[in-house]
Amino acid sequence: MSVANVEQVVKERYREGAETQVPELCCPIDYDPRYLSVIPDEVLERDYGCGDPSRYLSSGETVLDLGSGTGKICFIACQVVGPEGRVIGVDMTPEMLDVARRNAPVVADRLGYANVEFRRGRIQDLQLDLDLLERELQERPVRDVDALIAVQSRSQELRQQQPLVKNDSVDVVVSNCVLNLVDNNQKQELFREIYRVLKDGGRAVISDIVSDEPIPETMQNDPELWSGCISGALSEEGFLSAFEKAGFHGIRILERADDPWRTVDGIEFRSVTLEAFKGKEGACYERNQAVIYKGPFKEVVDDDDHRMIRGQRYAVCDKTFNLYRQEPYKGLFVFVEPLEEIPLAGATPFDCSRTAPRHPQETKGSDYHVTTDQEATCCGPDDCC
Ligand SMILES: C[S@@+](CC[C@H](N)C(=O)[O-])C[C@H]1O[C@@H](n2cnc3c(N)ncnc32)[C@H](O)[C@@H]1O
Repeated sequence: MSVANVEQVVKERYREGAETQVPELCCPIDYDPRYLSVIPDEVLERDYGCGDPSRYLSSGETVLDLGSGTGKICFIACQVVGPEGRVIGVDMTPEMLDVARRNAPVVADRLGYANVEFRRGRIQDLQLDLDLLERELQERPVRDVDALIAVQSRSQELRQQQPLVKNDSVDVVVSNCVLNLVDNNQKQELFREIYRVLKDGGRAVISDIVSDEPIPETMQNDPELWSGCISGALSEEGFLSAFEKAGFHGIRILERADDPWRTVDGIEFRSVTLEAFKGKEGACYERNQAVIYKGPFKEVVDDDDHRMIRGQRYAVCDKTFNLYRQEPYKGLFVFVEPLEEIPLAGATPFDCSRTAPRHPQETKGSDYHVTTDQEATCCGPDDCC
């Protein structure tokens, strides 16, 4: 199926799903009941998610929900992030947006604050504001080729001048059962877009349907299976590697359903939630820092190809040192600071292409010949050996 066909089929199915509940598209999820009481039934009944990325959000964060549907995850997320946080839902189906937009003031009234908005766009092109473009098209409909070319160039202008979602503007991108609905030829752009809109240090928390085997072409050409979250599902390993290829790091599976949601011709389709971080790029400086991988594995390799054996002390640049101090690595390493701090302003470049052991004398300094007084290291008469 072509990109246009996939989009039409998906839009048609979810237009219907916005108007009435479509049971085949539902996958039962246990959302935290504390957050459901303020959400109108019309939204809750049209729940087409397969996981709950909102569980992994924190207070004050700016969240972008890709394929927000009738808004359920946004309305849960807005309570988790609280009045200091913000939530933006993006969807391409006008009927889904209508339900979400008319319920946003109801939820805001019940909560006593308004921090959710819904925007119309395609998640593989988060720069183009489709409401803006449509308004212009209504004033100047396309009737010939010249007008079509003008629209293409105007779309490009809108992307640059009034992007739907700006670069580096979001703390967490979430999505619930939508990535699989994007045509395979556009998935690379989709992952690039997720990366673009995230702030440095931001993360993606994505729930989606994945397959345990490659999907045959016959299944990929079936419109019913496309819109039913089957044909476009990535394989379990492909889901993780797509984030890796887009430049993410610290990618991990947060949840994986034991039982398949559906099995089609022997291929199992199940829900997986993963987390992936942005922000491993940047200059590498030598500040004489070292890390020791604590285990339990004998050896680990990070997304910059640093290979580390358990218990050994390795030289790392300042950027990697600080990256490892944050999630998801925090707790896996011992951090060894140099005895004498090297100010960042005076630090020399560090060669991050290799992983070298760090001799303890490098962190202590070659002039370090201290011998401690045994008594001085004792805490009390009974504590010493
Ligand atoms: C399976 S539903 C999930 C809705 C919602 N996340 C939930 O948990 O109920 C898929 C939603 O993604 C939207 N969608 C599908 N492909 C899209 C795309 N390429 N760009 C934007 N929205 C898309 C559909 O309109 C629909 O609302």
